[in-house]
Amino acid sequence: MAKIRRLPEHLVNKIAAGEVVERPASAVKELVENALDADATAVTVDLRDGGAALIRVTDDGHGMTAEDLMLALERHATSKLGADEDLDAIATLGFRGEALPAICAVSRFTITSRPRELDEGTRIGGDGGVVTQRLTVPADPGTAVEIADLFYNTPARLKFVKSAATELATSLRTLTHLAVAHPAVRFRVSNNGRPVLTAPAARDLRERVGALWHHDVAARLLALDRTEHGVRVHGLAAPPDLHRGSRDDVMVVVNGRPVRDPGLSQAVLAAYRPMLPRDRFPLVALWISMPLVDVDVNVHPTKAWVRFRHPRLVHEMVIAALGETLRRQRTVVPTVTAPSREDASVAWPVEPRATSEDAQAPLFAETAAAYGRADLGRVLGQVQDTFVVAASEDEVFFVDQHAAHERVIYERLQSALDAGGTVSQELLFPEPLELAPAAVALLERWRAPLERLGFAFEGFGGHTIVLRAVPALLKGDEPRRLIEAAVDELSGPRGGEPVVDRALSFVACRAAIKANTILSGEEMERLVAELSATAAPYFCPHGRPTMSRISMNDVRREVKRVW
Ligand SMILES: Nc1ncnc2c1ncn2[C@@H]1O[C@H](COP(=O)(O)OP(=O)(O)OP(=O)(O)O)[C@@H](O)[C@H]1O
Ligand SMILES: [Mg+2]
Repeated sequence: MAKIRRLPEHLVNKIAAGEVVERPASAVKELVENALDADATAVTVDLRDGGAALIRVTDDGHGMTAEDLMLALERHATSKLGADEDLDAIATLGFRGEALPAICAVSRFTITSRPRELDEGTRIGGDGGVVTQRLTVPADPGTAVEIADLFYNTPARLKFVKSAATELATSLRTLTHLAVAHPAVRFRVSNNGRPVLTAPAARDLRERVGALWHHDVAARLLALDRTEHGVRVHGLAAPPDLHRGSRDDVMVVVNGRPVRDPGLSQAVLAAYRPMLPRDRFPLVALWISMPLVDVDVNVHPTKAWVRFRHPRLVHEMVIAALGETLRRQRTVVPTVTAPSREDASVAWPVEPRATSEDAQAPLFAETAAAYGRADLGRVLGQVQDTFVVAASEDEVFFVDQHAAHERVIYERLQSALDAGGTVSQELLFPEPLELAPAAVALLERWRAPLERLGFAFEGFGGHTIVLRAVPALLKGDEPRRLIEAAVDELSGPRGGEPVVDRALSFVACRAAIKANTILSGEEMERLVAELSATAAPYFCPHGRPTMSRISMNDVRREVKRVW
């Protein structure tokens, strides 16, 4: 029988490296994260052959003493985690003490470091995780890590390293994401001696994004900022006519950490979906901040994924924050038809990493939804008693009849309010309602906006209030159920929104045609015409899309492919 042996440390590290260091870009990411954790104000990355031959990361951070430097190469040695509790609230990018030993285990490495307080630095060097050299050297304050011949001793992994161009592109994506997360830090990146990314220390996100994506683009991005339930979503988002052929420029940062979270990307795309042609993606730089304990960063070996304690809340906040900004944009911009050629030329020169397949896309991409009046074309009919199908020259639309009608009513009510008030319907028999104290308090707080919308109440104080009138639009609703629904809706999670908007969207939602309702041809025509005339036809008042669209270009392309 085989005898069990304990593996030597360098072999353990080599095995661990398999998880932590997938490719050169993973090493770049870990080294730059270490620099950021060391409070560097400037990080320089020099690559050779996209990082496959050499990665050198130099920072001006707090550096390490000779003793710490030796420790840093040991597995599970970290300065970032002290007690058990710290694991529940991680504020640094690193926390496991894995990265450096893992990277050094599969490369030839040299690390030079000098803490600011000391006059001299220490340099250690070695290969395959074994230190063969240790010197005292003159050095600038900070740390420089040089990783040569990554995977030289793991041939299986080496085989997976792609062309220098592909590895460089991956590293640049990672670095761009880190640069978006840390605008105040200066980044300089070169490959084979040529500068490939330069981002001076920036005052804010827009300035940083300008250095990364071009200042023309940055100037067009819309700002968003929304805080609810201790979660803040803020950042910049492209207007819908500025889009790309890949989702690389959807950048989400959670508590300073760049993350790749499918749920979050879905949320971003969902907010844009109704306005973007298929296969086109927005540019978005989002910072999400929340209490550290509400996000678990210890769920994936490369730390690119996180787990939220309340994922739905976070996703909905992202959709709401983006939806709000995009809607606002649409109502401010006056009617402009399809983006002109000049707009296209703004999008074109800044498409930095277009690959050969999508290099042509911007030229042929259909225009995104034009601002102002939507051209939904001709109504063709209804499917599943829920979607009205319409087609223009360029697109086929599946309009969600409920969401669309909600939008129409919402805007109609809004103008009625602006003009002085909405139509109210007195109840023939005023309805006394027994309610829980919390519900009474809530209705009392909401009384003014509700009354402006056509409700009339009496007798606040006890458990019973009397409902005397309802908005004319809702006269068909059973009063008790209506009020219960209102209490439900008003106590829901959209606390940050203006009271009147919420009351408005509540009434609009109740009054709108429901799904699974057969509509006549005339009703469909009217709905589509009224929707096109709204200020924000693509969203219902809750921020959800009112329609899904298919581009005829895609249809033609697909059909051609088949034949
Ligand atoms: N550039 C640097 N400047 C200063 N200290 C550094 C630097 N790089 C690494 N260190 C020190 O070395 C330790 C080990 O680094 P390593 O990346 O292996 O682990 P970590 O960052 O603590 O956790 P993780 O494995 O999650 O990255 C760090 O905790 C830090 O104290
Ligand atoms: Mg680290």
